[in-house]
Amino acid sequence: LSFKQTNTIPIQLNPDALPKHVAIIMDGNGRWAKKRLLDRIKGHEKGADSVRQIVEACGKIGVPILTLFAFSTENWQRPKKEVTALMVLLKKFLVSERPNLMDKGVRLNAIGDLDRLPKEVRDELDKTIRLTSANDTVTVNLALSYGARAEIVRMARQICEEVKSGRLQSNEITDETVSNYLYTAGIPDPDLLIRTSGEMRISNFMLWQIAYAEIFITDTLWPDFNENEFYEILKRFQMRERRFGRV
Ligand code: IPE
Ligand code: IPE
Ligand code: MG
Repeated sequence: LSFKQTNTIPIQLNPDALPKHVAIIMDGNGRWAKKRLLDRIKGHEKGADSVRQIVEACGKIGVPILTLFAFSTENWQRPKKEVTALMVLLKKFLVSERPNLMDKGVRLNAIGDLDRLPKEVRDELDKTIRLTSANDTVTVNLALSYGARAEIVRMARQICEEVKSGRLQSNEITDETVSNYLYTAGIPDPDLLIRTSGEMRISNFMLWQIAYAEIFITDTLWPDFNENEFYEILKRFQMRERRFGRV
């Protein structure tokens, strides 16, 4: 049985007013572990359970696109021990989740400077992306080795090359052109941005794409974040008035 068939939509959510794209800054794994006198990596391990839960929740209620900030460009500067442990965890997750992704109709995609990932992680990532490419219940974009400024620099370089070669005129460059040269080309901008663990900052995530996203910051640490809190936030999202600069 798929989730769609077994599910009843939770807590007064209007199925016609759900965000098409939710983006999440999954923060607070280290603090979760520290509170329990555990190694930070235990927090990352527990965080993987939250990922599974929120991906499944999107499938149940019909949120078609979920982007998860899993590892930033700046996170490469963490101690080698933590970076290595995160890469090992990511690789394990990509392998162990495959049957579940197939079962739930989840298509995996990745955004970021993927060439910086260790080869064995990159291979498992590519394999999972290929395997799930025809799934259409939810698309999950994993932001890995992702930084919005690096993404913008890459876009600028690519557009410059197009102009230099004469394929594009500079006065033809529009918002849409810029969007088309970002990692998220073809993906609608997030309607809703969630950050866990209370920090009031963006930390170099999707700077261009979140121009009109509704922002929710919860104090809950990512490993404690669950389906019910996600639905609560969606309910509050549906109560917000989005004006896009108009009256
Ligand atoms: C988020 O949790 C996961 C990654 C950035 C990889 P943190 O590891 O940043 O946890 P805190 O913010 O130190 O609690
Ligand atoms: C943002 O969290 C990156 C991810 C969640 C992957 P960080 O923990 O790296 O951000 P800062 O350092 O608090 O800004
Ligand atoms: Mg953090």
